Amino acid sequence: MPRQVSFDQYGGVEVLHLSEVEQPIPGEGQLLVRVMAAGLNPFDVKVRTGKVKEMIKVTFPSAQGNDVAGVVEAVGPGVSGFKPGDEVAASTSKRGAQADFALAPQATALLRPANVSWEVAGSVWVVGTTSQAMVRAAAIGADDLVLVSGASGGVGALASQLARHRGAAVIGVAGESNHEWLLSHGITPVTYGDDVEARIRAAAAAAGRELTALLDVAGDGYVELGIKLGVAPERIDTIVDYAAAAKHGAKTEGGSAGTTADVAELLTLINAGEVELPIHASFPLEQVQAAYTELEHGHPRGKVVLVP
Ligand SMILES: NC(=O)c1ccc[n+]([C@@H]2O[C@H](COP(=O)([O-])OP(=O)(O)OC[C@H]3O[C@@H](n4cnc5c(N)ncnc54)[C@H](OP(=O)(O)O)[C@@H]3O)[C@@H](O)[C@H]2O)c1
Repeated sequence: MPRQVSFDQYGGVEVLHLSEVEQPIPGEGQLLVRVMAAGLNPFDVKVRTGKVKEMIKVTFPSAQGNDVAGVVEAVGPGVSGFKPGDEVAASTSKRGAQADFALAPQATALLRPANVSWEVAGSVWVVGTTSQAMVRAAAIGADDLVLVSGASGGVGALASQLARHRGAAVIGVAGESNHEWLLSHGITPVTYGDDVEARIRAAAAAAGRELTALLDVAGDGYVELGIKLGVAPERIDTIVDYAAAAKHGAKTEGGSAGTTADVAELLTLINAGEVELPIHASFPLEQVQAAYTELEHGHPRGKVVLVP
């Protein structure tokens, strides 16, 4: 029988296990996808630990995962433009991507371009919609010096490169193990922790410019820091620190402001080699606990992916 990642109670990685389930049947407008890769997101962790239980009501046993790539196995009523055998990247509507089979609305599905790996296609949806929405919300352009906090993670790695693609100069805050990668993508790396403000000021001085925008993926006081460094609130977008955004009038546009067209544009850039979504590690489905341990503690560069 097909397997899916499940948990029966809120908790740490130890509550995750595989369960056997009936093969899902695609409903109106849905694709049944035989999963080739399913990327992990910190949001999956927040759901599993109960951190967002007021927002996301789960019933146990609960499944995991939004991002998925795979081969269309069957299509539901009303589907046009996709057929069995098509290779797609998509977003599941009701989580449950981390499984042998998943259902995805056709409105989220895109054909996998030739140069895009399964792992990248299966990781691109959440971080792709989010990073595109962020650079749009902060109106990043060629005259900007942008600070990206969390520049080596799934969202930050893409947001930094999309800002570069728009012609901006970028300072990226990330752990030191990821600095070489940032440098190789034209992003000036800065280490977080004590005295991060002084290091950002020094990086801006070396660029000979003031910071003009902030894309905050890390929380941890960066909105306040951006204001202190003279960034206008409407040029700040945070996807983590909603309290600071409300206090200062900064923006909070994230994944829900992104579209399938945003993901399509990003896949085109990745396919052309102009943007990279780094894959930190892949794990087979049965090693789901190890995969989430790596996401939560391994300082991944880019994405951790389950490969059924
Ligand atoms: N609102 C939305 O729509 C939305 C959408 C997607 C994600 N999110 C949220 O956004 C956050 C990031 O998601 P993600 O997928 O990019 O996570 P991720 O892949 O785990 O990346 C986290 C990044 O933060 C960096 N980091 C850790 N502590 C930091 C600090 N004190 N200062 C600066 N950077 C720091 C990490 O650096 P090192 O690994 O190099 O140490 C890494 O680059 C999560 O909380 C997620 O839930 C929100």
